[in-house]
Amino acid sequence: MDLNKSFPCIDDLERATLRRLPRFASEYLRGGIGREVALVNNRVALDRVRFDARYIPNQDPGPVDLATRVLDQDFALPFGISPVGLSGLMWPRAVEILAKAAAKADIPMGLSHHATTHQSDFHAIAGKNGWFQLYPARDDDMRRAMIDEAIKTGFETLIVTVDIPGLTRRDRELRVGLSVLPRLNYETLWQVATHPRWALAAAFAGPPQFKNLLPYRPKGLSAKQQVEFFATFMDRPVCRQVLCDIRKQWPGKLVVKGISGMADAKAARDCGADAVWVSNHGARQLDAAPASVEMLPAIRQGLGTGAEIFVDSGPRTGLDIARMLASGADFVFLGRPFIYGVAGLGARGGDHAIHILREELRAVLVQLGCSRPADLSGFLAE
Ligand SMILES: Cc1cc2nc3c(=O)[nH]c(=O)nc-3n(C[C@H](O)[C@H](O)[C@H](O)COP(=O)(O)O)c2cc1C
Repeated sequence: MDLNKSFPCIDDLERATLRRLPRFASEYLRGGIGREVALVNNRVALDRVRFDARYIPNQDPGPVDLATRVLDQDFALPFGISPVGLSGLMWPRAVEILAKAAAKADIPMGLSHHATTHQSDFHAIAGKNGWFQLYPARDDDMRRAMIDEAIKTGFETLIVTVDIPGLTRRDRELRVGLSVLPRLNYETLWQVATHPRWALAAAFAGPPQFKNLLPYRPKGLSAKQQVEFFATFMDRPVCRQVLCDIRKQWPGKLVVKGISGMADAKAARDCGADAVWVSNHGARQLDAAPASVEMLPAIRQGLGTGAEIFVDSGPRTGLDIARMLASGADFVFLGRPFIYGVAGLGARGGDHAIHILREELRAVLVQLGCSRPADLSGFLAE
């Protein structure tokens, strides 16, 4: 099959995913929180960012070079893969497929603390392109043990996600009966039976498990209590003191994810973060959250030109990546688009999603007359 013809853009991969997945999985993946105002605004705010092309430049800008250096590491592209929990529910071995694609394309990928793949298996595939994402446990000893495990595994970059201070309530997930893991009942069984491709793949893989959390689960819990543990082990705000303690313990690069305002950006920097990651968690946590792209200019101005700023939440095209880079980000991450790739296409989906975004981004830079991602801000329309 010619993937470029059948799936020329990420929206095509999303449509393929929605056809393939049972509803409990697709609702978990695509949904936002509340009335999904923030989800819509993530799109609307990106569409507002416009560029002025230079069709008559003073000199030839030369060939486009998308290589980008962040956290003292060189990457082939200025975008990477956000951590997505429970991705094994959307497609078995989604993490492995994406880790392989990330290593091949030389882009970074964050492994979710809620992943269904063990961190050592991920690290073996992704190598230096693999970063570990941590939800700091409310129990200090447990948190330190989890960080020690990430150090032992060999990760060099730790992403600390701060924007889930308590239990999240999402209407779509409640409606389909998803509470951390799907509940088996007539309705979910019917959804599985009517999506045979997913059912077959899932049957081979077995039920998804939170492999990086299993060792910390207290002994003797019932199935219901275990689910509760997975949902609540981190239900406490990540206070400054905790962030500073993590900084002291973690020897590598530290990235703080879930920044949506200047106060948190400064707090993260003051605690010693090497980069801040502006995000509204794909509009899954607060329906009144600003779109990341709206926050970028102020955070760039507040932190200054030397700070490293990453961003996610909303981009679906290479043009969107360019919009975020032009608005103040050094590096852009995407969550759902890569899962749409894998859930829609299986093993080829990671490579194809990266291919789409790379070629779209390259075309935008050529069209603008811009040769490097770092120069995009000079092309923003007034
Ligand atoms: C299904 C799903 C699960 C997610 N799980 C995690 C997670 O475990 N850890 C985390 O830091 N962010 C998680 N996120 C947020 C993503 O890392 C990222 O911030 C978000 O997907 C970006 O928005 P986008 O999907 O519009 O690209 C999740 C997002 C989705 C859609």
